[in-house]
Amino acid sequence: MQTIRQIDALRDAVAALRADGQPVAFVPTMGALHAGHIALVEEARRRTPHVVASIFVNPRQFAAHEDLDRYPRRLAKDQAMLAEAGCQLLWAPEVDTMYPAGFATAITIGGVTAPLEGAARPGHFDGVATVVAKLFNQVGPDIALFGEKDYQQLAVIRRLVADLDFPIEIIGVPTEREEDGVALSSRNAYLTEEERAQARALPRALGEAAGSIAAGGDIAEALARAEAALVRAGFGPIDYIALADAATLAPLDRLDRPARLLAAAWLGTTRLIDNIAVMPG
Ligand code: PAF
Repeated sequence: MQTIRQIDALRDAVAALRADGQPVAFVPTMGALHAGHIALVEEARRRTPHVVASIFVNPRQFAAHEDLDRYPRRLAKDQAMLAEAGCQLLWAPEVDTMYPAGFATAITIGGVTAPLEGAARPGHFDGVATVVAKLFNQVGPDIALFGEKDYQQLAVIRRLVADLDFPIEIIGVPTEREEDGVALSSRNAYLTEEERAQARALPRALGEAAGSIAAGGDIAEALARAEAALVRAGFGPIDYIALADAATLAPLDRLDRPARLLAAAWLGTTRLIDNIAVMPG
């Protein structure tokens, strides 16, 4: 696997991949890779031999008080994991390459960015949309894969691609979980042993609430029970637990269409997010 740090070299390398006429798949990441990222590469490999990944810890999607500085960085291990999974090119630009002096553009998406993560992390999705648009223009893939773990992000990217006419097929890949149900996340590395044990309450609470809502139970009561379970397990504050339209992320008070149950909550200094599908009748 080749690691590339300059845009011209990236364009040449992607053009060389394209020479055999097969599509190029792209897996954007911020590194600190785990089995969830590798599942994206493997899904990409099922579709094409040509897989490009990126590692760029994007400062524009972190607020000043967030974890940009402590976000785990371990390029050598990530390179080995990507190569092993069959990734052909790694695009790993420096911050100055992505945002040279004078950079002044931001992409703001309405609607789907407003609730949940958008409300809890103002400006976060502007940073995500801007960097993903840049990465799409740099790599020029036919297919791009994103994890359902960041479910709202996936919906935001779908909106971006539709609104700005990127000729890219977006594939959502189901969340990879540990045996106890905890969703894989680079941020799990921050958890103490005790917090890691407490973390299993999050998928459990979501699963119970989703089951109750799908069985026709009262939505507000199910959400309140889930919140209480998280608090009992040691979570707090709870940023949100909400039922939303699976496509628009608008809040739902009736299960009359495909829905998603989403939560974000703190364990000590670590913010965890998770989500689960809820289908009507
Ligand atoms: O999901 C992530 O790792 C990031 O938000 C992404 C899509 C690579 C953009 O920085």
